[in-house]
Amino acid sequence: MRRYFVFVLLFLLFSFELFSDEGMWIPLFLGELNEAEMQAMGMKITAEDIYSVNQSSLKDAIVLFGRGCTAELVSDEGLILTNHHCGYGRIQAHSSLENDYLTDGFWAMDRSEELSNPGLTVTLLVRMEEVTEQVFDGVSENMSEKERSEIINKNIEEIEEEAIKDTHYKALIKSFFSGNRYFLFINEIFKDVRLVGSPPSNIGKFGGDTDNWMWPRHTGDFSVFRIYADSLNKPADYSENNVPYKPKKHFPISIKGVNEGDFTFVFGYPGRTQSYITSYGVDMQVNVINPISINLRAKRIDIFNKAMNKSKEVRLQYSSKQAGISNGWKKAIGETRGITRLKTIESKQAFEQEFKLWASSSPELNSKYGSLLDEFKKDYKKIGPLIQKSVYALEAGLSTEIIRYALSFDKLVDQSQKKDADNAGIQNSVDKLKDAMEKHFKNYQLFVDKKVFISMMTDYYQNNEMTDIPPIIADKIKKYNGDFEKMTDDLFSKSMFASKENMITFLEKYKKSHFKKIKKDPAYKLADGIASYRQNEVKPDIRKLGRNLDSLMRIYMQAQMEMQPMKKFYPDANMSLRVAYGNVDGYNPDDAITFKHYTTLDGIMEKEDPDIYDYVVEDKLKELYMNKDYGKYADPDGTIHVCFTATNHTTGGNSGSPVLDAEGNLIGLNFDRCWEGTMSDIDYDISQCRNIALDIRYCLFIIDKFAGAGHLVDEMTIIE
Ligand code: ARG
Ligand code: ASP
Repeated sequence: MRRYFVFVLLFLLFSFELFSDEGMWIPLFLGELNEAEMQAMGMKITAEDIYSVNQSSLKDAIVLFGRGCTAELVSDEGLILTNHHCGYGRIQAHSSLENDYLTDGFWAMDRSEELSNPGLTVTLLVRMEEVTEQVFDGVSENMSEKERSEIINKNIEEIEEEAIKDTHYKALIKSFFSGNRYFLFINEIFKDVRLVGSPPSNIGKFGGDTDNWMWPRHTGDFSVFRIYADSLNKPADYSENNVPYKPKKHFPISIKGVNEGDFTFVFGYPGRTQSYITSYGVDMQVNVINPISINLRAKRIDIFNKAMNKSKEVRLQYSSKQAGISNGWKKAIGETRGITRLKTIESKQAFEQEFKLWASSSPELNSKYGSLLDEFKKDYKKIGPLIQKSVYALEAGLSTEIIRYALSFDKLVDQSQKKDADNAGIQNSVDKLKDAMEKHFKNYQLFVDKKVFISMMTDYYQNNEMTDIPPIIADKIKKYNGDFEKMTDDLFSKSMFASKENMITFLEKYKKSHFKKIKKDPAYKLADGIASYRQNEVKPDIRKLGRNLDSLMRIYMQAQMEMQPMKKFYPDANMSLRVAYGNVDGYNPDDAITFKHYTTLDGIMEKEDPDIYDYVVEDKLKELYMNKDYGKYADPDGTIHVCFTATNHTTGGNSGSPVLDAEGNLIGLNFDRCWEGTMSDIDYDISQCRNIALDIRYCLFIIDKFAGAGHLVDEMTIIE
């Protein structure tokens, strides 16, 4: 025992180096923590070039696109690049059967043709700063968690307010290292962002969901937007008088090519990772959450696919929804596989054994951390079944469109049934609901939704104890005695939410007493019943346990850092700007298989199949290929390179992030990870985890040669 202990201590002391490629680092500390290593790996610029408060730096060319993607400035006239799948919803919103930009592509040939996108914002980081001390002001060791978070929240509010006094900026404080440190972000939010160009779907989404999350990949996943500002270069609502934004910095684009081993870094907004959780947390992810969504989503996807394959109209209506569901579905499958293959649960358990030994090595450590893991275990045991109910209610109960649509009327019901109802507020809701109605029915097919409903209800019934089903659904199942067809027909024929005509009349004539009609509607009743089951029966306990787990995690994080003083820790992703770095590299997915680090246009031609939607190739692209009409965008090897892989540690939110070379020039757009490596949100493995980037030369080739929008390339700074 003693010998083991000494061995463990030695192991801990000397195992201080992370694999260098793992990590999403805070730009503020690159100088201190990463610069030397980055330069040793090949970087030619400095940390100060990447992030600086004193001078313009690369960070001034990066924006958060909408709420979940990254984009980067590539001209001094506000031009930005992001992924096609990030612009997808916007491109679809501008599309109709007559003007099908989603399918055919869209290119503004001059500024007047650029299309505005109400509601779309881009967020530019002005500066960031650590505010841990200020946030903890007044917090003491022996405080209750409730007191603690009250003080913290109050401090955060005050610091945020103070930080942006007399400016047009927005302030945001985020927690890092599970609540052990806090950082303030000062942002500028632009509200006039216009669509400039998008390739046709069979380029921007080539390979579709078949190839999604996979390598070798040939997706031209990019779209082009432009930020507009007022005459003072400040954010403004959309106006014809706005002018292209003049950034402090835009990325030069290198078309020199990408070689194996080249240093590369990704600068963007990763959303969420869970690198430091316990084995119990991993177990819940792969054995409770993932299996439910994998199973239920597969059913919905199958129904959508069948309908989409039969009709062009349905394809247009359902492709965005389908992409949304299937993305998470496939990710979950890959993640579970990766965790199983890496034996992450087992290795976390082994670490936890070491942790327990360490924690029992002194009375002081023992009193701080001795019972930590047992408490985790206890709480996870309680939260698991609740999470299961909640995920089920969401994925099966609330996933039918009619149910979700009906649920969007709950605010109107609330407002209308109040004694002192606010008429202006009600009118405002009605107006919004009229807008939403148009959008909902534009992309709605009753027959698809009915099939989804039958399938979800059947699954609920077959895979759950009656006591674990929301009572409102359980009652219905009993009433219909398992006749799901009849249950579905009744619901859809009796609910007004199934018909646009009914909804138009209802909303046109809406008076506040009409809320009763909503409350009596069978779809609304069901929606309300499921939602309140989640809200009132399941969520309160989840929240309580979740808060407990959060504070355990805060302590566990601190303990892990204390236990491994030589290890360089990076904070889990939290939708704040980060830098990940590594090298261009292929990988071996399985025994005897080796993947190269790049794909080419030849591969697109190999995959081509006019009968399979995901693999249709445009005539124009074929013609360019036949004539080898590649302009300056060909690789020295004579082919057009389409995508490449590297070891950068990225996650959801990094989509659209610039992939940069040793000099900080743009060489690619990040858009995905390969399947074998999707467990990197929990466990990064340098041999299998690769980010997938679009080679910037393919992007420019499509803009210039395919779309004939060379004027956009002329705006950019190209390094040949
Ligand atoms: N897997 C990528 C990401 O997580 C791309 C998703 C969009 N593409 C698709 N075929 N659904 O965002
Ligand atoms: N495709 C992801 C995104 O949209 C990126 C990833 O998960 O690697 O952000």
